[in-house]
Amino acid sequence: MENKTKPNGSATLNVGGKSVDLPVLSGAVGPDVIDVKSLYAQTGMFTLDPGFTSTASCESQITYIDGDEGVLLYRGYPIDQLADESNFLEVCYLLIHGELPSKAQLDDYTHTITHHTMLHTQLDRFFEGYRRDAHPMAIMVGTVGALSAFYHDSTDIHDPMQRMIATHRLIAKMPTIAARAHKYSVGQPFISPRNDLSYSENFLRMCFAVPAEEYEVNPVLARAMDKIFILHADHEQNASTSTVRLAGSSGANPFACIAAGIACLWGPSHGGANEAALNMLREIGSVDKIPEYVRRAKDKDDPFRLMGFGHRVYKNYDPRAKVMQKTCHEVLDVLDKREEPLLKVAMELERIALEDEYFVSKKLYPNIDFYSGITLNALGFPTEMYTVLFALARTVGWIAQWDEMTSDPTQRIGRPRQIYTGASERDYLPMDKR
Ligand code: CMC
Repeated sequence: MENKTKPNGSATLNVGGKSVDLPVLSGAVGPDVIDVKSLYAQTGMFTLDPGFTSTASCESQITYIDGDEGVLLYRGYPIDQLADESNFLEVCYLLIHGELPSKAQLDDYTHTITHHTMLHTQLDRFFEGYRRDAHPMAIMVGTVGALSAFYHDSTDIHDPMQRMIATHRLIAKMPTIAARAHKYSVGQPFISPRNDLSYSENFLRMCFAVPAEEYEVNPVLARAMDKIFILHADHEQNASTSTVRLAGSSGANPFACIAAGIACLWGPSHGGANEAALNMLREIGSVDKIPEYVRRAKDKDDPFRLMGFGHRVYKNYDPRAKVMQKTCHEVLDVLDKREEPLLKVAMELERIALEDEYFVSKKLYPNIDFYSGITLNALGFPTEMYTVLFALARTVGWIAQWDEMTSDPTQRIGRPRQIYTGASERDYLPMDKR
């Protein structure tokens, strides 16, 4: 990746009796950054920013978010346009290669991904090692990590061709692994991928078909699935993407790096929020209970939070949530589930929260996870699968970011520092003196 930041003056820091000039850099859009790389060499001091609220960890050309305005762009294209007009594989191509494909390029790409969807049969046997009631995210972490044991011909990360093969394999095989995680948990036989179906049709079929009868994919539901994948495809330097970058910065195996990203995504503050949001809506159960839960969410002494609300970066309506809300209605319409009680609870909860002073003043808006749970529930997925679908879709973002980082000749291992507050040096105490 070619460095594209532009110098834009400097910032002066007066510290410890010294005055230090630090370069200010501009990106294409968004806030400028103060380049503090030389700070330690010049002052002997580090910066402290746990949670990275003021720290850019890298330069990237993939995804842009304006959290105040509620904007999300993939390679410059607004998320709502991509969700309405593109399809997931075209978005994958865009994220990885930087430009929308021509017809021939998209056909070729679709052919490549479609013809890499099968798993090595030995990998199939891996599933039998998991407890039947294992969480499918546990299965994903293990099985995607295990891919590193199968593909030794794509591990020279300094060879762009080998890196590209790894991206193809991951994008192609993730739906097959995710569908198997689901099938294994419900005790049904695995369904093999089919090359005459689109990415999302194939995934739905692998999840819901049984060998005993024909399965017809509903095109509206396949389109909804595709949109859900597009909405989750990348989100710049979130926790799981930063995990993938940090793991990859040591030169680790790409499949193992993606397994690290899946592990990070699992938590309820990140990808696990869609599962938690639906469980919360179920727990609330009816519209009359909403005030009680809103009161609990505002109570400092109660750890309860409204799941699917708030975001570290968006201080406005999450642009993905807008598309998700529309998709949710489309799915419920086609399945004749307009009267779905969970939807009623969600809509009323959203209305109340958006008017409530606590949520308004803290700029807590619904995020993508608020409506995705209801949609996935209607599509027939059990709650444990929601974060798996997020992982499936986010794989392209993770691998695009990993590829961008690895192709940067100036890339170095990620190595944050700390402020140490433990014991100062002391002598070892023999056991009888403790
Ligand atoms: N319900 C009630 N209060 C909340 C909520 C919520 N969902 N989210 C934040 N707050 C309050 C929080 O208590 C804090 O209040 P105060 O300033 O009085 O201490 C203030 O808002 C700021 O919250 P924070 O936790 O300091 O903000 P953060 O940027 O560290 O956390 C978040 C962001 C997404 C983890 C948080 O909003 C949250 O826990 N939301 C619920 C979980 C969720 O929906 N996560 C999905 C995120 S979108 C999908 C993804 O990208 O992974």
